[in-house]
Amino acid sequence: MSNKIIYITRRARFNAAHKLWNEDWSSEKNHEVFGKCANENWHGHNFDLYVTVKGTPVPETGYSMNFNALKAILKEYVEDPIDHKNLNLDVPWMKGQLTTMENLIVAIWDRIKEPIKASGCELHALKLCESENNFAEYFGGE
Ligand code: NI
Repeated sequence: MSNKIIYITRRARFNAAHKLWNEDWSSEKNHEVFGKCANENWHGHNFDLYVTVKGTPVPETGYSMNFNALKAILKEYVEDPIDHKNLNLDVPWMKGQLTTMENLIVAIWDRIKEPIKASGCELHALKLCESENNFAEYFGGE
């Protein structure tokens, strides 16, 4: 029987609108710092989220975590609340935060960490891609 630790990854996809805007700044400064993401009338991104969990396969299934269980967690905690939504206005757990990839990836981590633990695995890493060229990674912690 193997007691090796295996890392498995599932991709979730969603699209969402947002605007990056610091209320303490002038319009000029917001446009200078946030560029296209400061567009007053919103804009969207097609996000890819890679969720990596670590665990030891159990003998009965050979799985460390059943992908169907991971899929269901991502649907409930990430895709349903975010997909086709406005991150600034429609998502309560992003309220009061700049809707950057950095803040979004931490908020997602905090939402899915415990449900994944409850299913016997540990959340290891998140990779959130906002575009082909820009992505953020988070491994938990400070
Ligand atoms: Ni943007």
